[in-house]
Amino acid sequence: MALVEVKVPDIGDFKDVAVIELLVKPGDAVQVDQSLITVESDKASMEIPSSHAGVVRELKVQLGDKVSEGSVVALLETEAQASAAAPASVGGQPAPAAPAPAVVTPQVAVAPVLPVSASAPASLATVAVPAPPPPATAAVPAAAPSVPAAAAAHDPTRPPLGLPHASPSVRKVARELGVPLAEVRGTGPKGRITLEDVQAFTRAVMAGEVQTRAQAAKAPAAPAAGDGAALGLIPWPTVDFAKFGPIERRELSRIKKISGANLMRNAAMIPAVTNHDDADVTELEAFRVQLNEEHAKSGVKVTMLAFLVKACVAALQKFPEFNSSLDMASGGDALIYKRYWNIGFAADTPNGLVVPVIKSADQKGILQISREMAELAAKAREGKLAPADMSGATFTISSLGGIGGRYFTPIINAPEVAILGVCKSRWEPVWNGKEFTPRLMLPLSLTWDHRVIDGAAAARFNAYLAQLLADFRRILL
Ligand code: COA
Repeated sequence: MALVEVKVPDIGDFKDVAVIELLVKPGDAVQVDQSLITVESDKASMEIPSSHAGVVRELKVQLGDKVSEGSVVALLETEAQASAAAPASVGGQPAPAAPAPAVVTPQVAVAPVLPVSASAPASLATVAVPAPPPPATAAVPAAAPSVPAAAAAHDPTRPPLGLPHASPSVRKVARELGVPLAEVRGTGPKGRITLEDVQAFTRAVMAGEVQTRAQAAKAPAAPAAGDGAALGLIPWPTVDFAKFGPIERRELSRIKKISGANLMRNAAMIPAVTNHDDADVTELEAFRVQLNEEHAKSGVKVTMLAFLVKACVAALQKFPEFNSSLDMASGGDALIYKRYWNIGFAADTPNGLVVPVIKSADQKGILQISREMAELAAKAREGKLAPADMSGATFTISSLGGIGGRYFTPIINAPEVAILGVCKSRWEPVWNGKEFTPRLMLPLSLTWDHRVIDGAAAARFNAYLAQLLADFRRILL
């Protein structure tokens, strides 16, 4: 019998990382490689494995402690012979025989920088990182090669990025039980999915209180009712429409099915608020008409939307949180500010709504934006948009200006945090302090994520936007 200190091995660039989970307690028998604790930096979480087999005499760390390479995690009682590695000389005890080579594989969950694609929200991903071999002595861990997490993330043999935030041991249990982690709500720190969450989810599914998406998809009747049940809502009403008159059933288009699922998630998950305002675009419209006359032969038609794109970029630069995304990989407690301004615009197509993106709109003029917009809208209507045409937006404009309406409440295109809805401008009598004068007023509806943006900031954003549209020269200031 010998006492061995288990220490944090070489974990690459991770220093002073917080202990977020204790996976064993004193008295537990542990095997070589068995995870003892989970640590987490702002970028990744990692389980620290035991270098020896034995019984935990004492845990040397507590939740919240900061550890680095070499920090003692636990004191183990080992059978010198049974140990897979050589225990250290602790308290003057002689060091036993040389270690058997062991491959230890700590699991690292890497938080990638939030992808800019609206269709690919970021989350933690688990990748296996080869661990250092067990230390030659517990007191002085042998130098061991470590693999940077980023490099490991590119290993095609490892699980893909985009997995939910859970420790590798929880993932393992979920895999064994067939629990879809993406559907489990995490109650741990920063939304981390705990073992209890997986167990509670399993119990709820077994009790028929919750359906997994796979079950709902297979269910012949009313998948919407299943989704509502998952949200704790009463079932969707079932009506035999044919009882009241002739009916025809048409399958939703592929785009509608995809966008519907996205809209549902965004509407359900984002605490969204909408501010309405009006911009006096009398002079801007006159300028737009003049530009179109001047460029009649170029084939480029300048639309109000192009000016809106440019004005929005200026407003996003003045109010950068509108051009940010919540860092969901860290449980949504940080913002990722994007230093590029890519503006998506909703385009109505025969098959449904799509959102092509004007990239680097800050670096483009009105004519170029108008040209690109016309090209993208044409591609959208022909169903020829490539995924790259629709990814990378930092803010979206949905314009119904060519159709009509007064105001509406657009749904935010996650992971963006705001969207501008625009309706048809119309002539209105506006009081200028002395008299009513006819002015062309453009209705603006700004929907924003209240987790990120306050009402006052939204009102300022709208007011600034209206100011720019009323006098476009201000964009130069
Ligand atoms: N006020 C008054 N007139 C407007 C206007 C506004 N805010 N915006 C556009 N118009 C006019 C245009 O000047 C054009 O007039 P013209 O034919 O006399 O030149 C006409 O309306 C049609 O404009 P449109 O072809 O729609 O161009 P656009 O640049 O404004 O919009 C798209 C391009 C692709 C965004 C648009 O065609 C579209 O698909 N809009 C629907 C978006 C949508 O469905 N949003 C809802 C999502 S929930």
